[in-house]
Amino acid sequence: MARTKFICGNWKMFKTAGEARELVRQLAPLMAGLARRTVQVAIAPPFTALASAAEAIAGTGLELAAQNVHWEAQGAFTGEVSAPMLKDLGVKHCIVGHSERRQLFGETDASVAKKTRAVLEAGLLPIVCVGETLAEREANETMAVVERQVRGALGGLSAAELRTLTVAYEPVWAIGTGKTATTAQAQEVHAVIRGLLRELGGGAADEVRIQYGGSVKADNAAELLAQPDVDGALVGGASLKAQDFVAIVKGALR
Ligand code: PGA
Repeated sequence: MARTKFICGNWKMFKTAGEARELVRQLAPLMAGLARRTVQVAIAPPFTALASAAEAIAGTGLELAAQNVHWEAQGAFTGEVSAPMLKDLGVKHCIVGHSERRQLFGETDASVAKKTRAVLEAGLLPIVCVGETLAEREANETMAVVERQVRGALGGLSAAELRTLTVAYEPVWAIGTGKTATTAQAQEVHAVIRGLLRELGGGAADEVRIQYGGSVKADNAAELLAQPDVDGALVGGASLKAQDFVAIVKGALR
């Protein structure tokens, strides 16, 4: 079945509220001519820039994503932000379990599962990240790691819930390194993820978008996005420059 390609820019810890407004201002005219029905495009600014970005994207066709979330709706959790709070700001998608959060902030498959559930309960759409480290790939553990992460995060969800989410396959060794997985490496893991999704949710698996992430750039995007199970991209560094990001979006239109 035809899945609409989905490109999300993960701005990480870059851009103040004012800088976010400016980047959206640069993106808007470049996005204007693009066929919105054939590609869905979101940006994920840091929490502090979500409100200004929400205002700035009005009428551009861009959608808003958050980079992280807490699993409770409210409570005594100093420094945390909940899914209903994000929804209230106009956020539509939420990245969950990014490898930087797993590696630097102690997130586990169990916390990723709780966050995914909280995002769904708030009516937001999760982008659940999975991916192996270089050591795991070299030890031939890629598929086992990805399987553990997919089952860990998504195992308890219904087919109806699965249908709404996006999985981002991001090999950790490709993130911010300039090293991209080959199209064959990406497609191989994406197909395994699709198979796992089929086990968990039957036909819903055909509707789940599986994004590739890890040094996606204008010059490799089209080739990656042409793979049968690569349904989009989660873009870090290249999403911080309007021209570069839009060139990647154009790669999804071919
Ligand atoms: P990158 O980051 O495009 O800078 O490699 C991707 C990501 O971490 O989502």
